Parts: sequence; structure tokens; C-alpha cells
Amino acid sequence: MRLKQDFDLDNPLIKIEHLQKVFGTKEVLKDVNLIFPKGSTTVILGLSGGGKSTIIKHIVGLMKPTNGDIFVDGVNVATCSEEELRAVRKNTGYLFQDGAMFDSMNIFDNVAFPLREHRKDMSEKEIEDKVMRMLSMTGLDAKRVAKLAPNELSGGMRKRAGLARAIIMEPKIILYDEPTSGLDPITSDLITQLILKLQRELGVTSVLITHDMKESFKSSDFLAFLFEGEIIEWADNESFKNSTNPFVRQFLNGDGEGPIKFNG
Ligand SMILES: Nc1ncnc2c1ncn2[C@@H]1O[C@H](COP(=O)(O)OP(=O)(O)O)[C@@H](O)[C@H]1O
Ligand SMILES: [Mg+2]
Repeated sequence: MRLKQDFDLDNPLIKIEHLQKVFGTKEVLKDVNLIFPKGSTTVILGLSGGGKSTIIKHIVGLMKPTNGDIFVDGVNVATCSEEELRAVRKNTGYLFQDGAMFDSMNIFDNVAFPLREHRKDMSEKEIEDKVMRMLSMTGLDAKRVAKLAPNELSGGMRKRAGLARAIIMEPKIILYDEPTSGLDPITSDLITQLILKLQRELGVTSVLITHDMKESFKSSDFLAFLFEGEIIEWADNESFKNSTNPFVRQFLNGDGEGPIKFNG
């Protein structure tokens, strides 16, 4: 874990400015302002349905903002060309919330997919070596799982395979959407250890959405709290723990009573 002064806050790798997203009549994101310093890991916290996944979908241009800008390595993904967006995606690994895999492809082809999309220069042999290496790196028995269909894997194994696919392009940025949700505590911890290992070994800039507070504090340099469409708290790990914001305190303590009202 590193502190604010260890990062270049003036030149973040990702910068979100005044992001607003409206679905129909529902304003999910009002005015999101957030930076992701180069080489850091930032956890986004917030209530379910608050718009966390929506934020990271904007970073890879899977969604276009109603208003606002999202700069990724200097490129405004809200307005850039398809070609520029392709380049951003090439540098960005994305672990989907549901560990989404193509059901019709086996694990090997799922993990090989980004290479076949972006690395036409690689031979099948090179692709095979890399896929097997990535699967092993996530702790899977590569030979055995490669031939299996996604639905033949347990939840934890599917998350690992999703992770292998997210890192296969050696991305500069990795977005993890609830990588440990639905997993038992031991598998969760293994995945968290794996994320930390990737951080150390690849030096990437990571964005992590999780509800697991233990995981949050273990793996993050910065934490951001999304509430009612805005980031109402952003701090480094040490300061966030001691936040005096009443909304953040209620969230961290997991209190049903407090300033956050639930109507669900
Ligand atoms: N493509 C979409 N069309 C309409 N509404 C959406 C779409 N994606 C997300 N939403 C809505 O936006 C809100 C925030 O969703 P999401 O970003 O998934 O929240 P979180 O990840 O914080 O749980 C939810 O109410 C959800 O129903
Ligand atoms: Mg989500």
C-alpha cells in the first residue's frame, strides 16, 4: 500500500470529468469527478445499483456519457474515433462482473480471444503458449481447463479464467468488476492475492469494484465512495479508513441506521 505522495496526481492515467449518465428518465451518474493515478489501484465503493459498473463501462467506451469527459492516457473516450477506442481497449483488461465468457467457446478460445482480435501477427503456436502461461499464472491447471466449456467450471475457476483473459494483452489498465463476489472467503482471498501479484509484477493501473471491505483495504492505494451519482469521498487508504464523512462511516460500519436511507 502506498500513499498520496507516491503518485503523480497532476498527471493521472485516467481522468473522469463531470460525468453524467441518464438512462431514460433516471439520472444514475450526476457529476462524477475522479482521477486514477498511474500505477495505482483505486477501489470504487458504493451501494448496489449506484452506478459503479456504469462508471467503468465508460472508461472502455462501452457506454457513452450523457455529458462529461473521460480521458484515458490522454484520449477522450467520450468523443474519440473508433480507431482510438480500439487502441484504448487494447491496453485495457476488463474482468466483467459476471465473469462473462462466450458460452459457445471453450476456455482456451475465450482466453485467446483478445490476442486473435488484436494480435494478428502472432502464430497459433505463440498464442497457445501465451494462453497456457496466463491460465497457469492464475493458478489454474491449464491443460485440464483449456478444453472445458465455461459452464463446466466453478465460479472461482471462471473468475480466474476471466482474469487470464483480462491480462493476456499485458494491459496498462485493468478494470475488475466485483472479482470476488459470490466466492467463498478462501477463494476470494486467493483472487485478491492474485490481483496484488499482478499489480506488483505488471505495474498496472487498476480500478476495482468490490463490496468486500477486507479486500478493499488490502489491495487499494485509493478509495472512492460513490453516492447519489457523485464521488463524495476520495482518499488514500490510510485517510479513507479514518474518514469522518457520515455516509462513508455508515457504509464502513455496515449500519442499517444512519444518513443513508434505503427505500428498497
Ligand atoms: N444499459 C442500461 N440501461 C438502463 N439502465 C441501466 C443500464 N445499465 C445500468 N442501468 C441502471 O443504472 C443503475 C446503476 O447500475 P450499475 O452501474 O450496474 O450499478 P452498480 O454497479 O453500482 O451496482 C441501475 O439502476 C441500473 O438498472
Ligand atoms: Mg455493478
